[in-house]
Amino acid sequence: MTSSTPGLSVSSVAHGQETIKVGSQLLEWIPSDIIQIVPSSTYVVITDSNIFKLFGDKFVSAFSKEVANLQGKSNLIVKVLEPGEPTKCREVKAQIEDWMINNGCNRDTCVVALGGGVIGDLSGFVASTFMRGVPVIQIPTTLLAMVDSSIGGKTGVDTDVAKNLVGSFHHPKVIYIDTSLLSTLPKREFSNGMAEVIKTAAIRDAELFSILENNTDRILDERNQDLLQKVILRTGGIKAHVVSLDEREGGLRSILNFGHTIGHAIEAIVTPEMLHGECVSIGMVLETQLAYKMGLLENPAAIGRLIRSVRTVLPSLTAISCLSSYKLPLHLPKFLTAEDLFAKMTLDKKNLGKKIRTTILLNIGKVVENPVAVDNEKLRQVLMPHISVIPTVINGEISVPGSKSISNRVLPICGLGEGPCRVRGLLQADDTRVMLDSLKEFGIQFHWEDDGTTLVIAESQEKGIKKFSPPSKPLFLGNAGTASRFLTTLVTMIEGGTSTLTGSQRLKERPIRDLTDALLKKGCHIKFTEKEGFFPIKVHGEGLPGGVIDLSSNVSSQYVSSILLSAPYAKSPVELRLHGGQVSRPFIDMTTALMSQFGISVETPDENTFRVPLGRYQNPPVFTIESDASSASYPLALAAITGGEVTVHNIGSASIQGDAKFYTVLEAMGCTATQTATSTTVKGPANGKLRAVSVNMDFMTDTFMTICAVAAVAEGTTVITGIANQRVKECNRILAMVTELAKLGVVARELEDGLEVDGVAGDISKLHGGNIECYLDHRIAMSFAVLGTRVPGIVILDKECVDKTYPEFWMDLESKFGVKLEVPELKSQSLTSKAASAVRNVVTTLSEAVGLNPHGSAEPSVVLVGMRGSGKSTMGAALARGLGWPFVDLDNEFVAFTGQPIQGFVTEHGWSVFRQKEEECLRSVLSLHPTGTVISTGGGIVETPSAKKFLANYHGLVLQISRDTDDVMALLESDQTRAKLGEAPLDIWKRRSPLYHECSKLQFHVKKMENQWSKAEGELIDFVQRWDLRFKNVLMGGRNLGLKEVVDVSSLESSFFLSLTVGNVDTLEGVFTRISADVQAIELRVDLLDNTDAEYLAQQVALLRRYSPLPIIWTLRTQPQGGKFTGKPEEYFRLNELGLRLGCEFIDVEACHSLDHTTKFLNKLASTRSKAIISYHDFDSPTSTQNFQRMLQSCLRYVSLGHVIKLVGMARNHQDCYVLFTFLERVKTGNVLKGKPIIAICAGSAGRLTRVTNLTMTPVTHPELPVPAAPGQLSAAEILSTRMTLGFDGAAASVFYLFGSPISASLSPLLHNTGFRALNLDARYSYELFDTTNITNVVSKLREKGTAGGSVTIPHKQSIIPYLDHVTESAKAVGAVNTVTKTEDGRLVGDNTDWVAIDTLLRRRYVPLHGEERKLTSLVVGAGGTSNAAVYALVKGGHQVFIYNRTLKAAQLLAARKFWGNRSRFPGVTVLEDISEFSKKLEGRKLDVVIATVPPAANFTLPHDLIHDRIITIELVYNPRDTPLLQQVRAAGAAAGVVEGLEILFEQGLAQFQLFTKRKAPRSEIGEAFLSHRGANDLKLLLN
Ligand SMILES: NC(=O)c1ccc[n+]([C@@H]2O[C@H](COP(=O)([O-])OP(=O)(O)OC[C@H]3O[C@@H](n4cnc5c(N)ncnc54)[C@H](O)[C@@H]3O)[C@@H](O)[C@H]2O)c1
Repeated sequence: MTSSTPGLSVSSVAHGQETIKVGSQLLEWIPSDIIQIVPSSTYVVITDSNIFKLFGDKFVSAFSKEVANLQGKSNLIVKVLEPGEPTKCREVKAQIEDWMINNGCNRDTCVVALGGGVIGDLSGFVASTFMRGVPVIQIPTTLLAMVDSSIGGKTGVDTDVAKNLVGSFHHPKVIYIDTSLLSTLPKREFSNGMAEVIKTAAIRDAELFSILENNTDRILDERNQDLLQKVILRTGGIKAHVVSLDEREGGLRSILNFGHTIGHAIEAIVTPEMLHGECVSIGMVLETQLAYKMGLLENPAAIGRLIRSVRTVLPSLTAISCLSSYKLPLHLPKFLTAEDLFAKMTLDKKNLGKKIRTTILLNIGKVVENPVAVDNEKLRQVLMPHISVIPTVINGEISVPGSKSISNRVLPICGLGEGPCRVRGLLQADDTRVMLDSLKEFGIQFHWEDDGTTLVIAESQEKGIKKFSPPSKPLFLGNAGTASRFLTTLVTMIEGGTSTLTGSQRLKERPIRDLTDALLKKGCHIKFTEKEGFFPIKVHGEGLPGGVIDLSSNVSSQYVSSILLSAPYAKSPVELRLHGGQVSRPFIDMTTALMSQFGISVETPDENTFRVPLGRYQNPPVFTIESDASSASYPLALAAITGGEVTVHNIGSASIQGDAKFYTVLEAMGCTATQTATSTTVKGPANGKLRAVSVNMDFMTDTFMTICAVAAVAEGTTVITGIANQRVKECNRILAMVTELAKLGVVARELEDGLEVDGVAGDISKLHGGNIECYLDHRIAMSFAVLGTRVPGIVILDKECVDKTYPEFWMDLESKFGVKLEVPELKSQSLTSKAASAVRNVVTTLSEAVGLNPHGSAEPSVVLVGMRGSGKSTMGAALARGLGWPFVDLDNEFVAFTGQPIQGFVTEHGWSVFRQKEEECLRSVLSLHPTGTVISTGGGIVETPSAKKFLANYHGLVLQISRDTDDVMALLESDQTRAKLGEAPLDIWKRRSPLYHECSKLQFHVKKMENQWSKAEGELIDFVQRWDLRFKNVLMGGRNLGLKEVVDVSSLESSFFLSLTVGNVDTLEGVFTRISADVQAIELRVDLLDNTDAEYLAQQVALLRRYSPLPIIWTLRTQPQGGKFTGKPEEYFRLNELGLRLGCEFIDVEACHSLDHTTKFLNKLASTRSKAIISYHDFDSPTSTQNFQRMLQSCLRYVSLGHVIKLVGMARNHQDCYVLFTFLERVKTGNVLKGKPIIAICAGSAGRLTRVTNLTMTPVTHPELPVPAAPGQLSAAEILSTRMTLGFDGAAASVFYLFGSPISASLSPLLHNTGFRALNLDARYSYELFDTTNITNVVSKLREKGTAGGSVTIPHKQSIIPYLDHVTESAKAVGAVNTVTKTEDGRLVGDNTDWVAIDTLLRRRYVPLHGEERKLTSLVVGAGGTSNAAVYALVKGGHQVFIYNRTLKAAQLLAARKFWGNRSRFPGVTVLEDISEFSKKLEGRKLDVVIATVPPAANFTLPHDLIHDRIITIELVYNPRDTPLLQQVRAAGAAAGVVEGLEILFEQGLAQFQLFTKRKAPRSEIGEAFLSHRGANDLKLLLN
């Protein structure tokens, strides 16, 4: 003991190599002590700004004084660093070292670390290497640092790859632990340190563990200094001792790693969202379960101790645990997958080879002293969310968890009662935990015994209600229904102050009025502090007046029990009278039965009156809580279904629970059953033959699912009724059972108040395995586990949901009944299987949904929903045509289905019958057309909950067609033909809007005041098809060049996106083509739009789709990230979900939101085709590598779910750009990005250089936009030209060639070279002729390094095909390649742009002539090579094609090519034998298009009757320009529709240019050159 200052008490302890000085309020004393112990010329204090703010002044001024006293012999310097883990890095270490050198530090320096583990580790490492090592003093300020990081001499810094990878051992001279510093430590940080304390106690010190268990409040809430010092010293002592025995982690030290094998793996993924201690807490729980599973845990009760349970048999794994009472988490976050964790664990440094090792807990205070190799299968079982039971016969006996209803009644009774009581079998669950916490707040003393399995209510001086005192703070009751109700009456009796009861939002929404009204009428003082009749309430306790209490009782039996339980302590005897409807009698009976067991008999003169005498509950010395009857149903059913014998203890004929009679149903099914007062035994029929039963289960509704499981194998159909309330439990349990049973081949049907199940009479071969969805319902999991003991292959997908009432369920199966559990690989269900339609959460990608799925299986039908009048039928029919599928309109089907028109049907039967029939009709249509059909539904289909659910669960695509409200209203008002709904259309609209959202995955919005319907139809087809094609690695033809077809994000090198900064996209109509010329995507800055109303946003997206084919990046930038959005996180993600629905190709997801929200959103995104840009913007912090590291770290949490990472900082000077470059260099050398591209720039004009160097998806502006999206943003043209000037865009110059012969007259060099010049690409590319007839020359030239690709013409267009690495679908269809490009890895890709030119020009001519596009009747003349391109272009556009050729055979061969698709999909390709008969064949229709592909010498002209003034004539011959056909049509007045061969040549060249450069071709520049060269200036129309 040392105490140099009066009034200070400092204990000095030597632990191993460490001297630890412990006390309180030491800060001003420490400097003098340091100076004594370590005389130095310079003291270097290192701290972080949080700590400096709190204690800096005090500490530094005391230190300065001491140093001043040394009269110049010594010096003090202070370094204040940024708080947080990123500070613990090599860069900051170097900064500190430079700063120390500049301040004249030498070998005689002493480093003083004042801070948490970050400061301690970093400062220790600095000290260990500075001048080959100077002394370090640790003054830990966090609990973690006090008990862990400051002790043991481990120092170090993090690298990008992992934490603590670089470091050394360097013991501190002294560790000063001042527990008063902990008073400012945030709660979460405190708990973080407690994880370490609990861990240390668990591995080495059982006594310490008991102290922790029994003093939560003093340690956690009070931060009692004496107790803390004791706990810290003991914990630190153990660490120091273990370390001193094993300095370098050879063996023993590894015991300190308990909980860390799994904990570290979790941490590696969830940092910084979760803290180290939180991860280790979960790690400890899981590693202990693992030890149990591996059969190594000596005392299974240790699990309960660690996780403190109050169960008698096998202690539970959740709820009231030592860990959770220190507010530490116990369960893996749901989004973590076992695979992710496995991958991380194999990296753990202490593993030998690939084997995972871990520290095994044997009992509290005891571990195996060396790491043990893990049984990977067992580890998987612990980590995986799913589980499967291996069938076996079940025999044995068991006690299941206590009844919740009894537990929660016994607790207040015992609290009020006289004498101590040992309560056994108490259920631990949320409700009981809340009740216990509340009792503690009231001052009721209790503790745990028998390894935490017995709750001991202590003897007390005070008696009865006097034991209770008003709580010092509001009692937070979570969502605990029973606790909140029972306590409401109780607190009216607690005199001497006010009690406040509050809870979660959900609790605040649950009414309490009937109960409070009854109490208020009696004169109790209750105030509602938020909303009348709801929690929170403030109760001034003045005792409960007795006499008659009138209670309106049609709501909850819990109100009745609440008054009854407290009544014996009222001021005079209570007569409780119930008024009104029914209450659940069994629960009231349970209350009175329990009261009588504790000595108070309630008289019930009639069924609505209860007379309660005054008295005191008498606590028996031991009270054993009955097993929960519903939980008992599972082991009993196990005996029944497997033909074994099972006894359940603590539940028998003396039970006060209604469902203790469950065994009678099993008896009726053929089992033998016996019951004693306290046990129940069931024996399954020896021959395994169970019989079906018809049973009303209204008195034991919770166990109906257990019976369903047994019924599945019984003989006959079991009918269960009386359970209608089960539709509104954790889920709709009746529907859930029917759905999940179906997955195993069990046929079950819903009834109005129950269900029926067809049993297979013991013939298990009729059933099969399947993945069972649990809907977060514990009873589904346990019932299917019962069935799993007979039927192999049943996989329960969410094993943890049993925690709600029976956390040890799986362990009990193993340990009590010897059941083997396994974790099979999950097989995805067949999506076409009937049952699968109900599978929730199975990620159905839209590619599977929309069809064309890669495995060639049938494509599920697409269902359209939407408001009437939104255009579902029209659009649906168009979509069907586009996909080549049949179309079914449900309204028409309905007529066929019912034999009655809708109007008439509604008039006769009313709307509700109609809705029912409509749903039947939908189900029947989908079962008749499960695949390959577009189905449009009626607007009201979503009104029926079951129909809505059916659609929401449909595994194919449900697509909402939406349209502007005003447009729809106008239409509906003008349309009198539809059935009247008797409600204003606008009201219907508002009600249904969210319903459509709930049941559909995607939304296609029709633009406001749409008048170009064929365009909208085309966009819809494109929208749906793109969900398939967009991200497949297909290189499309030259159209729509952009990210859409450039497919996967890894090929986004050198791309730009345009940030739109307008309030309304409509204002850009005229300029859109110009402003988007150089970019590959458009960013819609949703936060900058005039309005974030869903419809407005849908309209904006619709406009963008109309203006540009480029993919859309949906960005909602929040204010802290530099945007305008100020809504709540929920709103942020809700709006982003809209972006997903609207099919935006990219969604910007800010990494600054909570892990939970963000992961949920990204998981949703993962089931769509959209890609996520994970972004972090920080315009405020100073630019530093640490800051970029911090930003990156936030993003990296989502690296596996995201697709692109985006970091934007702020440059204040040019130097800042280099900070970013250095940072990026480092990032790119590691593999932290997992191959995902990164956008990293600095905003601000000083940061422009970073925009020039950033190659992937650089955000750009355009001079014609009102403002740039960020300061310093450049246009794409500016960036490109700067790159050109600086010469770093692209590597060596490369050449494109024209391959063919003869080619000297070709215009291609002129075309391409002009384009290169116009785009400033001429330094990089050139285009030259390569005249050869030898194909091998062509190929070897193409393969040369300096060749970028080329154009291919006669004679190589076909012969080159076999030499290429990839040929696009369109080139295959056309049968010729005219363009070859090279991929980055040098592969040659063949494409064809001839058809693109035909297609483009056809549209360009047709629309001005006809107003809009439609399906055309067309004629192709000729059957040679180029005719293929013509037919392909027409077929692709969905047009009808006739072919005419002099030689009939050639035409027939052309028509028969498989590339034109099957006839059911396309209007077809027909051969004309005789062109003069053609007009007859057209039956009055006009010929819309003729495409001539024959040489001029053929002298082809059209029969005159086919020509009209709007016919489009496309001539492919360009030399000579004027052909007989063109002369003919021009003379006939049809010049407006002429497309010359030269135009085709030009257009295909432009498309080729785009393929070559991935840039939009400069049409006018190339056109000018082209036309003037050809002397064809009359063709000026080419230029726009
Ligand atoms: N060397 C070892 O043996 C060892 C052991 C365990 C952990 N560590 C390391 O320790 C680090 C984590 O340490 P930590 O949990 O102390 O984190 P920390 O140092 O980041 O501190 C946590 C936060 O609490 C603040 N803070 C510190 N003391 C405070 C106080 N008294 N009042 C208010 N705020 C206070 C800090 O500014 C910081 O924001 C990690 O880097 C980890 O790797 C090292």
